[in-house]
Amino acid sequence: MPYYRRVGDVPPKRHTQFANPDGGLYAEELMGSVGFADASALLYHLRPPTALLGAETVAPADDGLRPNEPLLPHHLHTADLPGGDDLVTGRRVLLANDDVRVAVAQPAGPSGLYRNATGDELVYLRTGAARLESSFGTLDATAGDYVVVPAGTTHRWVPAGGEPVHALVLESSGHLGPPPRYLSPGGQFLEHSPYCERDLHGPDAPLVAGDDGPADVLVRQRGGLTRYRYAHHPFDVVGWDGCLYPYRLSIHDFEPVTGRVHQPPPVHQTFAGPNVVICSFVPRKLDYHPRAVPTPYNHANVDCDEVLYYCAGDFTSRKGAGIGEGSITLHPGGFVHGPQPGSVEAGLGQERTDELAVMLDTFRPLLLADGARACDDVDYPWTWAGGRPAGQAQPTPTAS
Ligand SMILES: [Fe+2]
Repeated sequence: MPYYRRVGDVPPKRHTQFANPDGGLYAEELMGSVGFADASALLYHLRPPTALLGAETVAPADDGLRPNEPLLPHHLHTADLPGGDDLVTGRRVLLANDDVRVAVAQPAGPSGLYRNATGDELVYLRTGAARLESSFGTLDATAGDYVVVPAGTTHRWVPAGGEPVHALVLESSGHLGPPPRYLSPGGQFLEHSPYCERDLHGPDAPLVAGDDGPADVLVRQRGGLTRYRYAHHPFDVVGWDGCLYPYRLSIHDFEPVTGRVHQPPPVHQTFAGPNVVICSFVPRKLDYHPRAVPTPYNHANVDCDEVLYYCAGDFTSRKGAGIGEGSITLHPGGFVHGPQPGSVEAGLGQERTDELAVMLDTFRPLLLADGARACDDVDYPWTWAGGRPAGQAQPTPTAS
């Protein structure tokens, strides 16, 4: 989706002879989305990107997905989950449906080469820093950055050292991008959009690996994993151009929309995808009507499951529920929810909030994975009532 970008050396005319210094030709690759009917990029490789030497099936982990039954809200202490591995193989899946998988990761080292053949991935860094290396070049991401990695992008993640990385990972079943209402018919960000082209950052130089091949690439396709072995390393692109490439957006560059009275969640929307929206709740001025109630109202989001990832700041509406940095709440469709008792009164007269959170709404129900059950606060469903009522057994999610 991002605007046109050109990096490195490309020939003046597409699909024409592009001579390399040895007198041969660079190998042109068209990477196109939606059957070549949407955004695409043209990449120029030192060597053919097609020389496959081997393929093997990799057994995917059993995430233990089960329905959220009985239908309950959940509070997941993701900071309690063990870290390790890398940002690809170390993902701990929490929630999933046919449209999206939601995971957290605390990588201990760099990942191998990887690409998702099913859909775009969105990686949000809550803490730490990491470098995305891909056929398009490098992107240095730090805390607060969203990184969108288009489907089909061969890449690897390298933690940048220093503070440990805590990341939220969304694996989409399709393509992610800005909500169409933010864009003109020609694709330019409109004035009311909370961010624009200047806030999006793509690779700005080619990345050519020092070694050639062979190179192994882990490929995620719908329902499975395959490990390919290629004769040549995929990081051998001397130039590319087009509108399809990985990019980052800092949540701190998202400009909040505020009002005299409480603004609804769609004003916080940042990205859209198939049956999913992603929103950013950032530090902002609170409602300024003289009789405003700044704390959110009770609400029934009847068509969605709501997931909130608490990143930093003071979460006023969740006081008393034990929410902290790294917490994830799931408020499923069919469950009316709102501020914890006392939060509305405590929020009166408050003029600003320093909360920082990422929200994900899905339009189909989310299943709970073993990773969610491993860090679930079983007392959370009863916090609005002041505690689990006497005689109410503690339910556990069960298989259908
Ligand atoms: Fe909500």
